[in-house]
Amino acid sequence: MASQQSGLRHRTQQEQDQSTLDSSVQQAVRKNGGFISNPFWLLVIGALAAYAFHHFLLGPVPGIPGQVVLTPEQLKQYGAKSGSATLYLAVLGQVFDVSRAQRIYGVDGSYSFFTGIDGSRAFISGIFNETGLTDDVTGLSVEDYNGLVEWRDFYHKDYTYVGRVVGRFYDQRGNPTQAVEAVEEGARQAVLDRKALKEEEKKIPTCNSKWSQKDGGMIWCKVGYPRKTFVKQRGSESQFRCACHQDVEHNDKKQLYKDCEASATSCITSPPAK
Ligand code: HEM
Repeated sequence: MASQQSGLRHRTQQEQDQSTLDSSVQQAVRKNGGFISNPFWLLVIGALAAYAFHHFLLGPVPGIPGQVVLTPEQLKQYGAKSGSATLYLAVLGQVFDVSRAQRIYGVDGSYSFFTGIDGSRAFISGIFNETGLTDDVTGLSVEDYNGLVEWRDFYHKDYTYVGRVVGRFYDQRGNPTQAVEAVEEGARQAVLDRKALKEEEKKIPTCNSKWSQKDGGMIWCKVGYPRKTFVKQRGSESQFRCACHQDVEHNDKKQLYKDCEASATSCITSPPAK
């Protein structure tokens, strides 16, 4: 009983304390005209919200401090069309801040269509409409993949790297997908192919060639015999070049040009335009 009474007394004291606190808060609110209507606090809340948006809503890339993973919708908010002063674009799923080049990427800039999206394919195709501006890079050659990696390197060098966009090239956690790994592997192959071709060109030089509407096309060798020389490049269709071989031999891999003798040192490849 005694303890019940003391409990009651205790609660009553608590209630009194609370009501004193409530009335002092009310007084303070009345005095300051309300917390929310104070411009200083509005600024503080705005700054905190912007910080939270950048650092929490656009989640960090695991293991890579300072980088964010954006959804395509978030990336779109940084497009010139959205009226944002901060401009982002993505190449192969990597996001760059291009705000410093407003003249190029701003709403009236010649390349504003690249902002707010990942339009990787258009960096190769040069098709800058809705169909061309896509991240679908399937079916491009290994040389094209290398071109894309070079564009990505360019943005790393000239602009600020922001992070990754979720989609074809990076998953929800910002980890690379098979699609980006395939592009990178293709690009490496293209570099190796180029090196191999250079080495081969040293051994079997490329033919001289000329073309004009008046005379048509012609190929010739100062030393050796012109042959359509096939090179099997990894990851791409078999390609050929005209090479000057030292002997008159010819086969599937080094073919004669149409209407050209095995011992000829020059061949007409196309007739003059009529
Ligand atoms: C596949 C075709 C093409 C692509 C993907 C492409 C892409 C680009 C990109 C991304 C930039 C901005 C680079 C930066 O941030 O500094 C740029 C700049 C530029 N491009 Fe292209 N371009 C293409 C073709 C052309 C062609 C054919 C011309 C000329 C007839 C051209 C002329 C220029 C010029 C003059 C600039 C500098 C822009 C400026 O300073 O205002 N581009 N290009």
